[in-house]
Amino acid sequence: MSAASSKRDPREKSDKLQFVVALGRHVLRKRRRTLAGPRQTDVCRTFGIACLAVFIPLFIGATANAEDGYRLWLRYDPLPRRMIDVYRARVTSVVVTGGSATLSAIRAELVNGCTGLFGSSIPVAAVLRDRAVIAGTPKSSRLIAGLRWERQLEELGPEGFCIRSTRIGNSSVIVIASRGEAGALYGTFHFLRLIQTLQPIDTLDVSEKPRLALRIIDHWDNLDGTIERGYAGRSLWNWSALPGSPDPRLRDYARAEASIGINGCVLNNVNADSRFLNSEYLRKVASIAEVFRAYGVRVYLSPRFSAPMDLDGLNTADPFDPRVASWWRKKADEIYKLIPDFGGFLVKANSEGQPGPRTYNRTHVDGANMMAAALAPHNGVVIWRAFVYDMKPGYDRAGAAYENLQPFDGKFASNALLQVKNGPVDFQPREPFHPLFGAMPKTNLMPEFQITQEYLGFSNHLVFLAQMWREVLDSETYAKGPGSTVARVVDGSLNGERLTGMAGVANTGSDRNWTGHDFAQANWYAFGRLAWNPDLASERIAGEWIRMTLTNDTKAVAAITRLMLDSYQSLVDYMTPLGLHHIMWGGHHYGPAPWWDTEQRADWNPTYYHRADEIGLGFDRTRTGSNTVSQYHAGARDRLANLATCPESLLLWFHHVRWDYRMHSGRPMWDELALRYQRGVDWVRATRKQWQALAGAIDSERHQRVANKLAVQERDAVWWRDACLLYFQTFSKQPLPAGVERPERTLAEYKAKSLEW
Ligand code: GCU
Repeated sequence: MSAASSKRDPREKSDKLQFVVALGRHVLRKRRRTLAGPRQTDVCRTFGIACLAVFIPLFIGATANAEDGYRLWLRYDPLPRRMIDVYRARVTSVVVTGGSATLSAIRAELVNGCTGLFGSSIPVAAVLRDRAVIAGTPKSSRLIAGLRWERQLEELGPEGFCIRSTRIGNSSVIVIASRGEAGALYGTFHFLRLIQTLQPIDTLDVSEKPRLALRIIDHWDNLDGTIERGYAGRSLWNWSALPGSPDPRLRDYARAEASIGINGCVLNNVNADSRFLNSEYLRKVASIAEVFRAYGVRVYLSPRFSAPMDLDGLNTADPFDPRVASWWRKKADEIYKLIPDFGGFLVKANSEGQPGPRTYNRTHVDGANMMAAALAPHNGVVIWRAFVYDMKPGYDRAGAAYENLQPFDGKFASNALLQVKNGPVDFQPREPFHPLFGAMPKTNLMPEFQITQEYLGFSNHLVFLAQMWREVLDSETYAKGPGSTVARVVDGSLNGERLTGMAGVANTGSDRNWTGHDFAQANWYAFGRLAWNPDLASERIAGEWIRMTLTNDTKAVAAITRLMLDSYQSLVDYMTPLGLHHIMWGGHHYGPAPWWDTEQRADWNPTYYHRADEIGLGFDRTRTGSNTVSQYHAGARDRLANLATCPESLLLWFHHVRWDYRMHSGRPMWDELALRYQRGVDWVRATRKQWQALAGAIDSERHQRVANKLAVQERDAVWWRDACLLYFQTFSKQPLPAGVERPERTLAEYKAKSLEW
């Protein structure tokens, strides 16, 4: 390597260690060149030592500062020495031929990844070498074409891939191959993940393909840069700088999405602004799409249903008016001219004040199919949200989406999907699965999960949401008997849906670490992994994330995995145990306010949901109440509707339960409730201690940040316990059982002020 290239290296690599090593090498090389006499050698040696003395502390400082979370799970820091030798013996060069943007991204990822992980540079080779890693498609690589894997690659599809150890001629190589470039990119990230998590790579034979077609992140970003329910800074899309110069961070964002298999991104809030569809903004959107394209991420938009009126002065948005349908067709043509791989529309209609087809006495299907027709010629899709609920006297909001949409099963166009929130109310800490999953076998259904923690402590609380999502995906709908889980509905295997998908509401923003809480990155990661394979176990996802993001120390990995897996139930314990729901403050939804009853709509008030009275607590959704439990199939319904068989985790969701009702523990419901709240607080305290004990295993910067957040989490958990128990005690009129701490403040004090957030 020439002196010039050894100087260039450090700038290409983010790792400051590389820079120090290169500097040392440069000094030594200079020393060799100037070996004219002892004096000069000494001068050089002194200079070299001086350089190292200056730069090593700088490096150490820089590394500590660099742990700002920006690199997510793609850190690529050097592995433990013994492992480097093992991997280096298998990987000595990278062969990625072809010049497309995606192939260049693959090449860069492999080189940067291996170089970083091995702590020394891995060259790019143009021709076959022994122990090379070869990546690409049969079209991009003659070496891959020569392997004649077409049939297997065909089965895996353009996003699937295989990774195999094999021989080409006399060379033993690792091949990452796919029919499509996106698949080769996913394979590349998979390969790097194997190394990052210290998996063996000597006899590789991996075949993977995504189980769901659309794996989408929904951003609730507004034109002014704010994010609805965003807790990690401002929007990543800097509209005023576009289309001219997209922020380099957009590339890192797309890279992170591709690394977990995400292939779509809705850029704007479902509470939409029509201006996103004007030609000025479409050009801006096109410039984002251009950056994302290299990483296989398509952009989508949320259109406002009244856009034909707002943008072009039509006097109606009635989907049956030919002028309206033609407006949407022309708009779709305009979009696809600018963005040929545009994904489609995500629509919130006739919900929480948004306009929609019902405004014109048309149905949801009328609106969805009109848009679907405009997008169909371009292979675009319309994703229609099932989050619709009209306030009617005496109704149960949990039953509203089913009532509104189930009758339309089989009526939606083939390029339309219905996006259904995981539960029937609204992203609560715990909800039963949405009954629509078992009730629309002739409709393309895709679940919507909320990665951002609107009701779960914002980006202040550590909670690993894979546990929650697993619970929903594993729920039995009984639509076709046992085994009809939500996961089987979602992946299309139960009903033979052709178009499948999963959506997650983003938790990212302009914060340096993307997600506010360092552990909230794990939820972003988990969502992508589950959208790729809805059967993945939470434990596996947590283990991968910890090893890639925090540490490969086995003991620390085990401790953090346990902590993450327990975090979900613990948060439910201190917020909404036993099936309580929607008892947060109105508006911002942070902190407890079970007394809240001032919202204009009854179903935005906690009192509507918990129904506490002198007899007991909970919403009766059985035959004696709203009977929305009847929206479930018999297998689920009978179990949930019976007080004795309803899981205690959902008891107060489905039943109004007497304060003295005997729980499985033998304790009265009131005591059980109080002890659950206490258990949640105890968990946070124990977790803080455990986290302190992990100080040596994690860099001090991230360790400290998480410790600070855990202190806030403890404060909030105590607040939740005290405020809820004091309030419910005014109905139960029972003392707190032994083992529950006395409240820190009075109910009046808790009522007086929302949590600081
Ligand atoms: C919740 C949330 C809103 C959001 C809505 C939705 O109600 O509080 O901010 O707009 O969900 O999913 O559309």
